[in-house]
Amino acid sequence: MKQRDRLRIAAQKSGRLSEAGRDLMARSGLRFRESRDRLFCYGEVEPVDLLLVRDDDIPGLIAEGVCDLGIVGRNVLLEQQLEYVQRGEVAPFQELRRLGFGRCRLALAVPSEFVYQDPTSLAGCRIATSYPALLSDWLRKQDVQAEVVTLSGSVEIAPKLGKADLICDLVSTGATLAANQLREVATLLESEAVLAAPAELMLDDRQTIVDRLIKRLDGVLQVRD
Ligand code: PRP
Ligand code: ZN
Ligand code: MG
Repeated sequence: MKQRDRLRIAAQKSGRLSEAGRDLMARSGLRFRESRDRLFCYGEVEPVDLLLVRDDDIPGLIAEGVCDLGIVGRNVLLEQQLEYVQRGEVAPFQELRRLGFGRCRLALAVPSEFVYQDPTSLAGCRIATSYPALLSDWLRKQDVQAEVVTLSGSVEIAPKLGKADLICDLVSTGATLAANQLREVATLLESEAVLAAPAELMLDDRQTIVDRLIKRLDGVLQVRD
């Protein structure tokens, strides 16, 4: 891996986690000068820069060594971790801290006419999701055979379109499910924003910067608890 003397944090450019993430970084003493395209923000006080990207890209950026830390939903991190595990590999990233914001859950939700009693009610069903690895893993643990239909977005309309019998998606306020007349029946995962890091220590000055940053972050998180 290339040696670098500045740390790079990846965070969601826009979305549910971006504002609280920026707030947490500011409270941890990080200040950034925003560039014109606003994708790369130069760190002014600390040797720590910020890269604003799509949340789904964050684990990959850490895996490639392009970024050293990331603020991302546990759901995204675990999904990509499971992809490695299902290939018989070890994921090159890990969850370092839970950050206490962006709480949501990965849940199964069914149309009103669907009779759900327990996971065995799902046998032979088609389930639409953007989290195929997490869903397959859960189904396997429940010993239930169902078809996983992978969609990258608008999962909640899949039952109406006849593409699936039910869905497995993130639920925060529940407004999306209500708007699509879907009823939540089971929780697969409790999620929130987390700090992601490489699975192995960095072998240059960056590890010292990470350690110092984590110490400050822990102080901020403790005040919040
Ligand atoms: C998630 C999920 C639902 C919505 C649920 O999408 O896919 O669409 O949030 O939230 P609610 O219960 O408050 O209505 P989100 O926009 O967070 O991410 P995505 O763009 O990656 O689907
Ligand atoms: Zn996303
Ligand atoms: Mg969505």
